[in-house]
Amino acid sequence: MFAPRISARVQAIKISATKEMPMIAAKVGGCVSLGQGVPSFVTPPLVVVALMRELAENPSAGKYSLQPGLTDLRRACADLIAREKGVVLDPETEMGITVGAMEALFCAVSTLVDRGDEVLVPEPFYPSHVEQILMAEGRPVLTPLRRTDWGLDVEAMRRAVTPRTRAMLISSPHNPTGAVFAEADLRQAAELAVEHNLAIICDDTYDYLSYDAPAFSLAQIPEIRDRLIGVGSFSKRYALTGWRVGFFFAPAGLMAEMLKVHDCVAICAPTPSQHAALAALAAPESMCREFLDALRRRRDLACARLDALAPFFSYVRPGGAFYIMARYHLPEGLDIPSRDMAVRLIHEAKVITVPGDAFGPGGASSLRLSFGAEEKDLNEAFDRIEGWVKKEFGNLK
Ligand SMILES: Cc1ncc(COP(=O)(O)O)c(C=O)c1O
Repeated sequence: MFAPRISARVQAIKISATKEMPMIAAKVGGCVSLGQGVPSFVTPPLVVVALMRELAENPSAGKYSLQPGLTDLRRACADLIAREKGVVLDPETEMGITVGAMEALFCAVSTLVDRGDEVLVPEPFYPSHVEQILMAEGRPVLTPLRRTDWGLDVEAMRRAVTPRTRAMLISSPHNPTGAVFAEADLRQAAELAVEHNLAIICDDTYDYLSYDAPAFSLAQIPEIRDRLIGVGSFSKRYALTGWRVGFFFAPAGLMAEMLKVHDCVAICAPTPSQHAALAALAAPESMCREFLDALRRRRDLACARLDALAPFFSYVRPGGAFYIMARYHLPEGLDIPSRDMAVRLIHEAKVITVPGDAFGPGGASSLRLSFGAEEKDLNEAFDRIEGWVKKEFGNLK
């Protein structure tokens, strides 16, 4: 019997807990999910209609596109970035369309990181950022976010810089904390990058989903344009998670190198999905605004439900994305690791959450709760959690 030797790179990574919990829940059945990073909205009907027409009328719509992506889509993305971030890009040489933000990140990390190179990753972290650095045989160097407000702690990043540091990977609004990093902190991070000659990977997957004020992006700082790879996604803002389409932008030389990786892992992003993205970009602004308003209401609802569970849960109110890192406080002398807590919630309360430990030490004794679900499902999940907490730990007050 053949026993394949698994590469050390692949042995070093694992499937994230975000995906593991729904698999456990599928065996239990009847669970409500606060687990996955998916907004509940269906594919916008105008995207479906535009794509059906495209497939019927355009013989190229089901074929490979140009390797960096459809010209019209690169232009439309460049227009969006110019409008929202003030970055003027040449769509011919500085933009590429990818298989979601995920593939853009993979191309960026593989292009920048050699074996042993260090990348600063604020923690709690998005697990795939770390896995991608490990896949490139680099070293993710975790720098804690401020524990009081999940703000970007640039001094902690500064202390972590060594001669091997190559890059920083920053995402705001942030998964898993929902933090929207302050402009002043991001500007300091940019200065740190210039001081130590670091590249910046700016994962703006959630850039539109900021509830109290627009999120500031590192891409808005002209002085670091030469060292910045910007990453964007159609998944969350346009409710197109399953279509797997995103984009990246960078100076032409760097883009040419990243497109070599894109070619060898994907050839091109799925062409029908690129047409879907083009239709989404042409949609009236009100479409995304409705998603944003609905998610803001869900954020407020989830926070109110957590407040009612104080002091069992404490949390920092999220300003963006659709996640809350909720810390649980158990009676004196009791300790339940977050994975055990999440698994018990699946079996005993039939609610899916993600163990905070999966996102680094800052997630200890915490659960990541997503508020992407509809209000009735959020209420059902919180009813179940509340009933379970009261049964297990008595009256909370
Ligand atoms: C921080 C972050 N970056 C990237 C991604 C991947 O996004 P996409 O669906 O565009 O690949 C996600 C998905 O949840 C995410 O949370």
